[in-house]
Amino acid sequence: MNDDAKKILIADDDAMVRSTIEKILNMFGYEVEVAADGLEVLECIDDTFDVVILDIDMPNMDGFQTMSKLNDLHCDVPVLFLTGAASMDYAVKAISLGAYDFLTKPIDDLDIFNVKIKRAIEKRMYVRREREYKVALEDDVRIKAAQLEKQNKLLVKYSNSLETATVQLMTSLQNAMEEKDYYTVGHTLRVTEYALLLGAAMDLPEDEMVVLRRAAQFHDIGKLVIDLSCIQKPGKLTDEEWVLIRKHPSIGANIIKPLGFMAREQTIIRHHHERMDGKGYPDGLTGDQLDDLTKILIVVDSYDAMTSRRNYRTNMSMEQALAELDLCSGRQFDKTMVDYFTRSIVDFVPGENFFYQGKPGASGRIFHDV
Ligand SMILES: [Fe+2]
Repeated sequence: MNDDAKKILIADDDAMVRSTIEKILNMFGYEVEVAADGLEVLECIDDTFDVVILDIDMPNMDGFQTMSKLNDLHCDVPVLFLTGAASMDYAVKAISLGAYDFLTKPIDDLDIFNVKIKRAIEKRMYVRREREYKVALEDDVRIKAAQLEKQNKLLVKYSNSLETATVQLMTSLQNAMEEKDYYTVGHTLRVTEYALLLGAAMDLPEDEMVVLRRAAQFHDIGKLVIDLSCIQKPGKLTDEEWVLIRKHPSIGANIIKPLGFMAREQTIIRHHHERMDGKGYPDGLTGDQLDDLTKILIVVDSYDAMTSRRNYRTNMSMEQALAELDLCSGRQFDKTMVDYFTRSIVDFVPGENFFYQGKPGASGRIFHDV
């Protein structure tokens, strides 16, 4: 018997019949195992068989009962029923149980017998191939999913490091430009720290805090590229100077615009001089059109302006500035943000690099509120 020989299980209670069919199948080159009833079939059936031939009338467990049990085991080996009684009732029952074909005994036409066996073996091969294909497909999908996940992680890592590098570059650029603008350097650091203080008080999620920090850090970046020497001059600003100054939020947003990962920061920067009553600039948006992060920035930016010295007034104390925020809440500031800020600033201990309120910019010079 060669290794590729197909394996057939015959179950019949008649030893003579078993032996005859075994000899015929051996003659056609098949490997054969025999069982005397259904119970023996269930004991020896496994995936190595290609066809099962079941007699119908057997003691202990007949052919139909055996077929039902094989179905319960999800056995996908084709079953041929062996019957001497060509009854329609038998046929209907066998087909309803999923029988593949019938063999009549005694076997008088060997060619038909062999054709039926061959067809059942082909069916078995088809089922095996289909199963192997399904398993291979599932493996393939699993491998591809794992590869995609790995690539995705790499992309996220790459994207994160690219974002970090870009923010570092922007920070370096801003620091270099701030060397020429003493007002902004202290202001930016304080506003960033105040914004994070308020964000933490509101228990904002980590990703919102990242956006808030970046928006605060770059909120006045527009000032660094327009000539704002006028803000250091004594006396009132002209209308033209105000027009120029009021361009800084939109200019800042345009600087950030090419950085796709800072889309939200861009919007916040553009609107950090809006007011709840719609009288701010550049777009005259009202409170219901502004998100929480923008409302936070509006409050802390103004608070720092109030508590820093200006060339036409001394700085306000913390209490005075908080009273002013409260007075203007609802119109200029969001009341909820003012309340959160008031509660958190009272206990605030500034960090190492913090330019505490009341202290002017790094140079000690004084400026207009812009
Ligand atoms: Fe500003």
